[in-house]
Amino acid sequence: MKAVVIVPTYNERDNIILLLNGILDALTPVRSHAVSILVVDDTSPDKTADVVRSYQKKHKNVFLLLGKKEGLGRALLRGMAYGRETMGAELFIQMDADLSHDPKVLPEFLEAIDRGADFVVGSRYIPGGSIPENWAVHRKIYSIIGNTIVRFGLGYSYVHDWTGGFRAYRHTYYDRLKSDLVRFSGYLFQIAFLHRSIMLGARVVEVPIHFTDRRFGHSKIAPSQYIRDVFHYVLRERMKSTFRSSFFRFCVVGTIGFIINTVVLEGFVRIGLHPVIGGMTGAELAIISNFILNNAWTFSERRIVGRRMIGKFIQFNTASIGAVIIQGGTIAAGTAMYGISSYRLFYLLGVGLGLIWNYTLYSRVIWKKH
Ligand code: GDD
Ligand code: MN
Repeated sequence: MKAVVIVPTYNERDNIILLLNGILDALTPVRSHAVSILVVDDTSPDKTADVVRSYQKKHKNVFLLLGKKEGLGRALLRGMAYGRETMGAELFIQMDADLSHDPKVLPEFLEAIDRGADFVVGSRYIPGGSIPENWAVHRKIYSIIGNTIVRFGLGYSYVHDWTGGFRAYRHTYYDRLKSDLVRFSGYLFQIAFLHRSIMLGARVVEVPIHFTDRRFGHSKIAPSQYIRDVFHYVLRERMKSTFRSSFFRFCVVGTIGFIINTVVLEGFVRIGLHPVIGGMTGAELAIISNFILNNAWTFSERRIVGRRMIGKFIQFNTASIGAVIIQGGTIAAGTAMYGISSYRLFYLLGVGLGLIWNYTLYSRVIWKKH
């Protein structure tokens, strides 16, 4: 495969040659992939580019792309665009320029790809991986807590290291995500790219890495801004996935049904009709509304259409009556044991049990997956 190692740099003149040597040493013996290196420099004031240019004279597979400073995420995207358009890249490897990432593990990344991985993540938080021992305690805590929040907040706990920048991925993820990813210009890019690739179905494999603190130059991360960005991202994605979840939608639809039921009941009573007629009409109208809305929205990806709707609607009605019976039964049993004044409590319990009943039947029977 044609592989391009992207190395973003901003003021890394004291690191870059050592890194380039390390990458070439590690990858020259690899025969299964044709590897080039692309340094993406944001016109560093320390003239990192000059150092790279002189290195290029002796190394034909080292490339340099210059741009203006727009953040790490943008630099990576620019590098990948160049890699695709000009270098024919099929695989991207990404690593920091400051010697924090050890090029010696690169062959392992490539082996993981050969075995079918789509997205290889260099991971500090799996056995065999580590963060620097000399990091101050607060840095360790930040890193561990940040990663844990992302890991569980996004709901893909099988990936342990979300924030790092030592990775390899197939070009398809860049191709499909590039326009979406321009929004993540800074360090958040790392999280967003991995997350979105997973949502597209990428098979992730983690390879343990030791992260070493940089010796030359200094970090460009702005910690407080970064932490804020990460929180926002996780929160926003969490809300999006909740909104998309069928249980949430089922509850919204149920609430609408409940309102319809109540309004009809009260309306009928007000014009002098018997509450039983109001209650039953309201219940049936609510059931119709629930059926239509659940079909159109909650279970939209398994939507029932055409003639099958009639049979399904009858099934749905029957299932919903089950919830009514559960609710009635709960109230009856509860009030028999604890007296009539306890009816509200058992009404709520009954609603809860009915909810479970309905949701189970709707998702497993009526709109069951094929
Ligand atoms: N071209 C370009 N433009 N490169 C950049 C920019 C930029 O705006 N900002 C940072 N870089 C480069 C650096 O030169 C370095 O090679 C790499 O990106 C990582 O930047 P550091 O400044 O060394 O960041 P860090 O070590 O504090 O951040 C580490 O943790 C982050 C969060 O966990 C790195 O491992 C990051 O990759 C990681 O996202
Ligand atoms: Mn660094």
